Amino acid sequence: METQLNLFSSEKNTDENVILSASEESPNVKKSFVVDASHNDSKNVKYKSLEEAKTAAMVCKKCALCNGRTNVVFSDGIENAKIMIIGEGPGENEDLQGLPFVGRAGQLLDKIFASVNLNRKEHLYICNIVKCRPPNNRAPLEEEANACSEYLKAQIKYIDPKIIILAGAVAVKGILKIKDPKITKIRGQWIESKDPLLANRKIMPIFHPSYLLRHEWNKNPDSPKAMMWKDVQEIKKAYESLTRCE
Ligand code: URA
Ligand code: SF4
Repeated sequence: METQLNLFSSEKNTDENVILSASEESPNVKKSFVVDASHNDSKNVKYKSLEEAKTAAMVCKKCALCNGRTNVVFSDGIENAKIMIIGEGPGENEDLQGLPFVGRAGQLLDKIFASVNLNRKEHLYICNIVKCRPPNNRAPLEEEANACSEYLKAQIKYIDPKIIILAGAVAVKGILKIKDPKITKIRGQWIESKDPLLANRKIMPIFHPSYLLRHEWNKNPDSPKAMMWKDVQEIKKAYESLTRCE
């Protein structure tokens, strides 16, 4: 039986096997990649509603991160969002306020999406791989991400976003099970997953906003900020094409 501790697949994708095929479906992107992660399915979602998942998370002690938290950081944004953004885990400000992406990186994330008129009050649902702050802002361990995945799976099932944005390598690893994702290579690509919980959703890795904070802006078209600008425009296009189809 698939253990509950495994997130979206028990098998790790590697850079070599993650890209099974490339297609030219979207005129806006050069390629979209298909990831094989078909071991999970939404029947594995433990909770009957988002509310039930949130209630459980608020008192969760399933991993050691519960020891250092001030608040469980479940989500922000709207529950009928078409776009879900998944980050890594709460930092200090998030832990204190109980909301994701409210510190410096979060403010930058808000600015990036505001540049294409998308915001958390009207369009976005924002959450993280782990709901409790890792000590000294270290990356969450695999076992912590796995323990917390039951909440994330419920969030994906019940929010049912058409677009999932993975901010940074930890989110890519947690969702797509790519062992050592090269974010500089895969950012800005639409990825499809065969995982039933992820199927029919457009998934795009982007740089984590804190990575951008560490890089000075420059005019080089290859600068991380320039790429982020390009990626968010692509996200907006995909969002607009969804709303056109309604
Ligand atoms: N970084 C993250 O990945 N998530 C947050 O909520 C804040 C900072
Ligand atoms: Fe529970 Fe997730 Fe917090 Fe760990 S990080 S204690 S699994 S809510």
